[in-house]
Amino acid sequence: MDIIRVQGGHALTGGVHVSGAKNSALKLMAATLLAPGVTTLTNVPNISDVHVMGKVLKGLGCTIEVVDEHTLAIDTSGANSWEAPYELVAKMRASTAVMGPLLGRFGRAKIAMPGGCNLGARKIDMHILGLEALGVSFDTSHGYIFADAHEGMSGTMVTLEFASVGATENLIMAAVRAKGTTVIDNAAREPEIVDLANMLNEMGAKIQGAGTPVVEIEGVDELHPVEHRVIGDRIEAGTFIVAGALAADGDGIEVTGFNPHHLGMVLKKMELMGIRLERGVDGVRVWRADRIAPVDIQTLPFPGFPTDMQAQVMVLSAMADGSSVITENIFENRFMFASELVRMGADIRIESHHAIVHGVKSLSGAQVVSPDLRGGAALVVAGLIAEGETDVSAIHHIDRGYERFCDKLVGLGASVERVQVPDLAED
Ligand code: UD1
Repeated sequence: MDIIRVQGGHALTGGVHVSGAKNSALKLMAATLLAPGVTTLTNVPNISDVHVMGKVLKGLGCTIEVVDEHTLAIDTSGANSWEAPYELVAKMRASTAVMGPLLGRFGRAKIAMPGGCNLGARKIDMHILGLEALGVSFDTSHGYIFADAHEGMSGTMVTLEFASVGATENLIMAAVRAKGTTVIDNAAREPEIVDLANMLNEMGAKIQGAGTPVVEIEGVDELHPVEHRVIGDRIEAGTFIVAGALAADGDGIEVTGFNPHHLGMVLKKMELMGIRLERGVDGVRVWRADRIAPVDIQTLPFPGFPTDMQAQVMVLSAMADGSSVITENIFENRFMFASELVRMGADIRIESHHAIVHGVKSLSGAQVVSPDLRGGAALVVAGLIAEGETDVSAIHHIDRGYERFCDKLVGLGASVERVQVPDLAED
């Protein structure tokens, strides 16, 4: 069993360049299905979720050439299946992103029903309701969803009950091949959706309004392959910025490779906490805060505070002079990380979807378990300032979304290593 071992107390210095955005790359890979031929994606992060999406595409009959570590040439001309099997959907829920493209390309899709995950129930009812409005009929049996639109899809008005990222993306990817115009009202506005719409437009789609609550898609007869660069990962960037705010040396650290506008609310809240930041075109410089002010945060769809930064910022508030309230509005089960942080000496009380965090003077290294992707990364960050040694296990969660996380932290001067240890819980 691999764990990440962190020795606390080493100051961070220098700079780190973030990889391409996981949440963009996965959807862009799925969208290549809409344009038969070879689409080349650059700045693709080398993470396990991308490998799973690669397997999904190969299972559908695509071939993938790894041109270099961050460039994939995806040939979708041979795609001849419309099934995303349970083994892969169970590993990564984002596999369901192939539903829209498969409907656009083949007029049908068979997708294993995603179960709950460690963030909660995570339903896909809004994906289904939206696609039904476009004329797709659904049947579920034996744990699979069968989506059928062999008579074509027709553009219409779809109002989403909640600005769901996944539902907005699946709807856009189906609607680009529907007849007529689709309008998505209350669409999600995340930067990754803009990236997806940009690539689809480069392929010949006619999408307007991505990044606003109303997205209009005029269907086209065909899309053509392109070369497209994945945007930088704002959440990976935010994770390193939190690390810098806690542990940078006197010169601060520089985090580059992303657009600071994509992290607007996070940076604003960090400034309210007294953290000094300097924004550039391609990144941010952050200095260590001698004193962290408490802050109230609630997670909301973009441009609100991202749920994917909630755990990392909780580490900052755990070290604040005073009490903070962090409210999680997006996922029902995203505070599991807090009880691990308590094992390191934090003072956190959970009441329903609120975390009441009373700042403490120091954290102490402990053995902790990564509960999910962002929570795991946040525990490693907490280890950077904890007294002594922190061992974070279940790091496969971290590998899903952070490319060479340990190497990048070591590059900043941290003492972090992957260590193989025997699994004592096994018989
Ligand atoms: C995406 C991101 C994830 C991020 C989240 C919110 C990817 C691969 N993942 O997830 O990192 O944390 O956006 O920014 O891009 N919901 C329903 N029914 C639906 C769809 C969603 O009830 O049909 C609920 C979910 O259970 C959740 C909330 O809506 O509570 C938000 O989900 P959504 O915005 O769809 O997130 P994802 O696309 O799953």
